[in-house]
Amino acid sequence: MLIVLPKGRLLKEIKNLLGQVGISFKDSSRKLVMDTSVKDIKVAILRSWDIPKFVNKGIADIGFVGKDVLNEIEDEENFYESLDMGLGKCRLSLAAYKEVTNSNKPIVATKYPLSAKAFFASKMQNVEIIQLKGAIEIAPILGLSDYIVDLVQTGNTLKDNGLSELEVIQDISTRLIINKSSFKTNNSKIQRLILSIKDALNENFKN
Ligand code: PRP
Repeated sequence: MLIVLPKGRLLKEIKNLLGQVGISFKDSSRKLVMDTSVKDIKVAILRSWDIPKFVNKGIADIGFVGKDVLNEIEDEENFYESLDMGLGKCRLSLAAYKEVTNSNKPIVATKYPLSAKAFFASKMQNVEIIQLKGAIEIAPILGLSDYIVDLVQTGNTLKDNGLSELEVIQDISTRLIINKSSFKTNNSKIQRLILSIKDALNENFKN
């Protein structure tokens, strides 16, 4: 079985959680696929945007990924979104650098074009969306966009760059996803794993 984990802020938390359910591994910066303390379970650490792709194709059986990324999937999903881990809590928000004067068709910079499109469609607001891959906050500062739609956790990045959060679009957290055919073939094993992850999350929540 292969479990894929996201690089970055959440890795340590998810690694600790897996350790709690008896799946421990040593991550090194160079090794891409790692054995774990459980003989038939390996883990790989990927960019979060790549995680659904590996799980969708059944290369990975299980993945941990943010709802922000799952919202942006256009293809048919060959995986179940099974568990809201309650980790990596943040929000997808609309923010701006200064008052928006171009109200006819404002420009929105974001890593999340589908979410942004749906949000403005719900407001019947016509916008131009520019998809960026890097630090989104820079777009309105340099005049590329009027608004941004981006993740906010502490709010420090917005604050430090003089941007204001105008509206929360959606609460975001990490989800556990399972490839549909792996779930059929390894049903009891995966069910057991999910139950023990749930127990560990409850235990951590109590403490
Ligand atoms: C996210 C997001 C913001 C920042 C918000 O980026 O895009 O820039 O975190 O966090 P804050 O409200 O706590 O300041 P991240 O650091 O994950 O890097 P990324 O741009 O590579 O996604």
